[in-house]
Amino acid sequence: MEARQEVLWVDRHVEVVMRAEDNLEFMQSLADESMKLVVTSPPYNIGKSYEARRPLEKYVQEQTRVIAECVRLLHPQGSICWQIGNHVQNGEIFPLDVVLYQVFRNYGLRLRNRIIWHFEHGLHCKKRLSGRYETIMWFTKGNDYTFNLDPIRVPSKYPGKKHYKGPKIGQRSGNPLGKNPGDLWIFPNVKNNHIEKTIHPCQFPVELVERLVLALTDEGDCVFDPYMGVGSSVIAAVRHGRKGYGCDTVKEYVDVAWERFNQLRAGELKTRPMNKPVYDPNLPNGGH
Ligand SMILES: C[S@@+](CC[C@H](N)C(=O)[O-])C[C@H]1O[C@@H](n2cnc3c(N)ncnc32)[C@H](O)[C@@H]1O
Repeated sequence: MEARQEVLWVDRHVEVVMRAEDNLEFMQSLADESMKLVVTSPPYNIGKSYEARRPLEKYVQEQTRVIAECVRLLHPQGSICWQIGNHVQNGEIFPLDVVLYQVFRNYGLRLRNRIIWHFEHGLHCKKRLSGRYETIMWFTKGNDYTFNLDPIRVPSKYPGKKHYKGPKIGQRSGNPLGKNPGDLWIFPNVKNNHIEKTIHPCQFPVELVERLVLALTDEGDCVFDPYMGVGSSVIAAVRHGRKGYGCDTVKEYVDVAWERFNQLRAGELKTRPMNKPVYDPNLPNGGH
């Protein structure tokens, strides 16, 4: 299938722009305050195939330029979610959320949650504990921001629980739609046996972005990923009736993003469903 590089208006509400381009150039084409959500996972400066290792100070300067542009694009009620792990140098770790936090603060953004994303697979370290979480820094531009809790509620632990005293005695005490998912998120990371695995070495799972899209945007809003890889953020946005924008410097990744998008529109894209329990070898059929 011929992959497209430009703009596609799928219907009246759904617009998708994905381009093989450096993000600073791509962002020049986008209007001030047009994005309700900027969600991304940038390179960690650890020498992956798509990045050149450079001194940490230079990396922070580059991130600062990109973050400044993202702030320009951000809607007054919008959010920035920076999904990030550790920069590692000679076995010493530099947690990039700690390193970059002040950059976001300097642009007046306010941290609403530092979400821990826990997963179970990864490198087995020999001289320190194996890393099994990364973080998502969720910042807003102002105090009046979009936050929809109901679409991201998860099943309550004790759905039948009732008030045992007081005027509501005997009535259900929990929300019938489920509970707040909290700030510790457990999603399998995209390794070889994950249903979403593509040629990209470090995709994030679509279900992770779907939760952010549903909570932090409304239908018809614009979602942007400045380091979009194979388009996981755009997929999550379009699946829920939002407009998706993204760019990546590696054309092969952008081609795969368009293939995934076309599969989505054809109803053929396989992603791990939101709220599917994590496989548990101690339960029959892994708990599925
Ligand atoms: C951690 S990956 C993001 C993967 C993505 N979240 C996904 O699910 O596919 C970071 C991406 O940033 C891209 N990248 C690096 N520098 C860039 C730049 N200056 N402009 C745009 N993309 C860039 C890399 O090619 C890589 O695909």
